[in-house]
Amino acid sequence: MTVHFIGAGPGAPDLLTLRGRDLIAASPVCLYAGSLVPEGVLAHCPPGARIVNTAPLSLDEIIGEIAAAHAAGKDVARLHSGDLSVWSAMGEQLRRLRALRIPYSVTPGVPSFSAASAALEAELTLPGLAQSVVLTRTPGRASAMPEGEKLAAFAATGAVLAIHLSIHLLDQVIAELTPHYGADCPVAIVWRASWPDQRIIRATLATLDAAVGSEMERTALILVGKTLGAADFDESRLYAADYDRRYRPVGAEPRFPEAT
Ligand SMILES: C[S@@+](CC[C@H](N)C(=O)[O-])C[C@H]1O[C@@H](n2cnc3c(N)ncnc32)[C@H](O)[C@@H]1O
Repeated sequence: MTVHFIGAGPGAPDLLTLRGRDLIAASPVCLYAGSLVPEGVLAHCPPGARIVNTAPLSLDEIIGEIAAAHAAGKDVARLHSGDLSVWSAMGEQLRRLRALRIPYSVTPGVPSFSAASAALEAELTLPGLAQSVVLTRTPGRASAMPEGEKLAAFAATGAVLAIHLSIHLLDQVIAELTPHYGADCPVAIVWRASWPDQRIIRATLATLDAAVGSEMERTALILVGKTLGAADFDESRLYAADYDRRYRPVGAEPRFPEAT
């Protein structure tokens, strides 16, 4: 018996990995995390599977479901939205399972920041503009931010910020970021990336508040940085005609002659 933690992706059912799909289909129990996991993903559960929405359950109750499946020798598919490496609450579940000696596996999923970037048709790291992306959030009722992880501290680096769980604090985000990025810095909000009702708003830090209005809440990602919508950036040296590299030796004395 194994508990398979599976990143269910950002919303579109066909953004689930093939491994995730096959594990769901082979597991007689499926525990899924609330409204962010699409029904199309649950459709891979085998007939007669026990399917439980864990949104209203406590951690103890979730572990109770898993322990019952373990006692019955039944595999569990444990679904969380996006990828499991960020804001999935997987860590605390794995710690309980280790203590109970219940085996588990972890299968990655498409994170929401990737789906949002794809919706924007954007490469977030453009040469000469930004080479780092910070996945972050603002403090919430359930999770305080550690000292040192303030938005302003990340903003001071000039990196692209992918700000999760914060659309309800947009005013605060704009106020904290504007001194660092400037009022004309491009911003995009992608609401429900990859869902059929996906919406995109492009603006600057100065115009964002008016562009968003009040109706957008909850499942949205705020992306801030110079690379959003930029046309003026350097080309990567990797594909430059005169760039000598292992797979494309160039010149009379290539750096990797053995590859020729
Ligand atoms: C609890 S976190 C889960 C993050 C998830 N594990 C991931 O890999 O993206 C939920 C937050 O992720 C973001 N999010 C998740 N799915 C999204 C989507 N389809 N479109 C935009 N943002 C999304 C929102 O900021 C939302 O408040």
